[in-house]
Amino acid sequence: MAPEVTTKTSIVTVLGFLLAMVTATKVDITQEWKPDFGWEITCSWSLYANDSLQSVKLSKNKQQFMIFRPENQIGSLSKKQTWNLVENIMNVECLEDENNGVSGKCVCTVEPQQPPRRDFTFSCEVSGERPYFRMDEKEITVEALVPPSDAMMAVTRQESGPASLNCTATGLPAPTIEWTVDDQRVPHNFHGTPVWNATSKLWRVWSSFTPQTEDLDKVQCTPEVAKGNQLVKGQSALYNDARRNTRSLGAFIVIILTTLVR
Ligand SMILES: *[C@@H]1O[C@H](CO)[C@@H](O)[C@H](O)[C@H]1NC(C)=O
Ligand SMILES: *[C@@H]1O[C@H](CO)[C@@H](O)[C@H](O)[C@H]1NC(C)=O
Ligand SMILES: *[C@@H]1O[C@H](CO)[C@@H](O)[C@H](O)[C@H]1NC(C)=O
Repeated sequence: MAPEVTTKTSIVTVLGFLLAMVTATKVDITQEWKPDFGWEITCSWSLYANDSLQSVKLSKNKQQFMIFRPENQIGSLSKKQTWNLVENIMNVECLEDENNGVSGKCVCTVEPQQPPRRDFTFSCEVSGERPYFRMDEKEITVEALVPPSDAMMAVTRQESGPASLNCTATGLPAPTIEWTVDDQRVPHNFHGTPVWNATSKLWRVWSSFTPQTEDLDKVQCTPEVAKGNQLVKGQSALYNDARRNTRSLGAFIVIILTTLVR
């Protein structure tokens, strides 16, 4: 009899534990790269329905930089703070829902003012009120990585001799551009210095290559970023795409000229 009772008790314990997990204080963090802006990191929480919010602590790289305590902001359910740093402008807005903060969120934006070089961690610790101070904490790593854009290939025709190709892409960190002929990597002729665009917050790179005329149809350029042990690639561009673009631009100009002449 005894073992059966033990089993039943443990099943009940496990069930009770699972139920508690489902309803307990819960924190979630999401991150998103917003084009022409930077990162948006959102920490949202939900407590037991009968609990209320004691505090939300936000940390960057394990250093706490903000605490949101609703009880200190009487009559206010929100708090906004901005940090103008050399490397970025950080802005946090915390907002508790009108249920004693049983749910709510803090939205943190990070707008780079300089090329971001390092990943950073972001964590959020949420605690319910006394006497239980039930809390949860989550941490995420925000990678200084925006996958390379699709490659754009342009034909820079020369008066005489073979056609030169110019391939451009953007990304973070600065992508490298790999040229292939018939899927074989070739050393490219020349690549420009990457330029950081303060509007898009991305690096822009270009590389030019002058293939043998008979190889033109087999030429591809691909932007790549190697980070840790991952290789992130952008969409390749082909010589045929570049030629089509050039030709359709030509056709477009002809149409405009024809219209003007009429
Ligand atoms: C609040 O709700 C939880 C889960 O339903 C329960 O375990 C706890 O005893 C309740 N606390 C109070 C103070 O009512
Ligand atoms: C390639 O294109 C980029 C971007 O349009 C430009 O800045 C660069 O001068 C071009 N390079 C060559 C060799 O044409
Ligand atoms: C910089 O980025 C902005 C926004 O994405 C874009 O409109 C602009 O053309 C870029 N400037 C250069 C020089 O690439």
